[in-house]
Amino acid sequence: MNKSLSNNKTLEKLNFFVKDDLIKIKNLNILEFGVHAGISTKLFLQIIKNNKGKLISIDTVDYKSSFDDKNWLFLNCRDDNFKYINKFIKQKFDLIYLDTQHNEKHIKNIFNLYFDQLKVGGIFLVDDIFWLPYTKGSYRDNFHIEINNRESFSGIMDIYNSNLDKVELILSPKHTGMAKFIKLKNKKLNYFKKIKNRQFGFKNYIRNLRNFFI
Ligand SMILES: C[S@@+](CC[C@H](N)C(=O)[O-])C[C@H]1O[C@@H](n2cnc3c(N)ncnc32)[C@H](O)[C@@H]1O
Repeated sequence: MNKSLSNNKTLEKLNFFVKDDLIKIKNLNILEFGVHAGISTKLFLQIIKNNKGKLISIDTVDYKSSFDDKNWLFLNCRDDNFKYINKFIKQKFDLIYLDTQHNEKHIKNIFNLYFDQLKVGGIFLVDDIFWLPYTKGSYRDNFHIEINNRESFSGIMDIYNSNLDKVELILSPKHTGMAKFIKLKNKKLNYFKKIKNRQFGFKNYIRNLRNFFI
């Protein structure tokens, strides 16, 4: 897939899944991890222009000259450098958007590090958590990303299942997918306990065998 098509899909996904939530919020305060082509950054800055607010964007590549906007602060560092980033956080966020390293371990780490910095009612948005485009024969056929995204998805389930009283979860499988957590209360997160999968266990093997013969 060429780059501009992929960029359009990112914008399509954000417009479809989160824009309506954001345009309702006055003095919108956003923390964004991952700038690259600036698709999300540009959209957030446009909404902030109407609603007032601030956007802090983080990337390991220096994108500070990508936008010239008084409502934008760019920090050239890793997203897990909480100690440094926290110095610039003046108030809790309405949206934290994670679009950097798309793997289970990183998602869980960033969720843990920044959950306290989200307002109650705020959204923690995680990009690229579905595997459908990467399955065999699909338009992005890729073994490694399919498996990686299946793991990311199960990580999202672990976060949710371990914290049912603290977060609501809405999912979109559109394109490469997104997860939208909504914070319900200001309480310390529980440990993200791995959900046991019984699909590949002996009991299911027997079940499949029985189903085969009836
Ligand atoms: C998928 S791109 C972001 C796309 C962007 N949201 C958009 O809409 O155009 C991922 C970006 O994350 C950055 N990145 C990767 N790992 C990072 C990390 N641990 N901390 C900060 N930035 C990281 C990369 O440099 C890259 O610019």
